[in-house]
Amino acid sequence: MKFKGVHIISVRDFGKDDILYILDCAARMEEKRRPALMAGRVMASLFFEPSTRTRLSFDSAMRRLGGSVVGFSSPKATSLAKGESLKDTIRMVEGYSDVIVMRHPLDGSARLASEISRVPVINGGDGTNQHPTQTFLDLYTIRKCKGRLEGLKIGFVGDLKYGRTVHSLAEALKHFGAEMYFISLDELRMPGTHLDDLAAHGVRCHETSDIEGVIGLLDILYATRIQQERFPDPVEYERVKGAFVIDGMLLEKAKPDLKVMHPLPRRDEIAEEVDDSDFAVYFEQARNGIPVRQALLALVTGAIE
Ligand code: CP
Repeated sequence: MKFKGVHIISVRDFGKDDILYILDCAARMEEKRRPALMAGRVMASLFFEPSTRTRLSFDSAMRRLGGSVVGFSSPKATSLAKGESLKDTIRMVEGYSDVIVMRHPLDGSARLASEISRVPVINGGDGTNQHPTQTFLDLYTIRKCKGRLEGLKIGFVGDLKYGRTVHSLAEALKHFGAEMYFISLDELRMPGTHLDDLAAHGVRCHETSDIEGVIGLLDILYATRIQQERFPDPVEYERVKGAFVIDGMLLEKAKPDLKVMHPLPRRDEIAEEVDDSDFAVYFEQARNGIPVRQALLALVTGAIE
């Protein structure tokens, strides 16, 4: 029962063997339906920020395993609107559920919840910090479409400053000998703390704003939305949006087996003409959220070992 009772807060808490174990469990979930595995168990879904994929795929994952779901998709309809603290909310919800999935705008909020809760907490995204379940499904997608995780050249493009999915994924890929290309405007560069950590682990990293110059080298291009909601100054957002657009013309310079990923939602950073090409895996990537989140729910509640 290696994962029973474990909180899923940051990919930093998991080593290479843990990651591979979770991906293998997800593959088994995808192979075989388990409609009664979580019968009688309840997942609390606490979303303090908007979400389509994370919230709905966790709900769907739990229900497909026979479990049930309580929760909210906006704090406005809860006693938080009357001033109840996050701490007290978690103290209540742990009594109503076997596992808590939470998204919150503040960095560190998931860790705080895990320190209070007696049931496992799964971080569905905390501010600009981490989005570990997205990372597990990203890794699952990479392994499925490339047949391996080891030794890939991965480009990250877009909002590398505020994009928590990039921070989490880069962190996890350091275990797999990836060479990373961080493609962004100066204002949206990967934070230095993350670059220092990658360098300390011997990861070969390159920073550039010239996507055309590196596209032909990549096995995976991971695009992200410019996170408008995290910009303190709206004028700054207007200045940087639309800086990188992945379209058919750019992809003519790519290797034929390049795969384009995106955590979604997208704005205009991937042209719709790419959707039906062999490059696009972002919708499949979102669908992979189901087996991966099923595996995580079942592991942390002890429904599987
Ligand atoms: N990828 C992702 O976290 O999407 P949502 O914001 O829709 O959950």
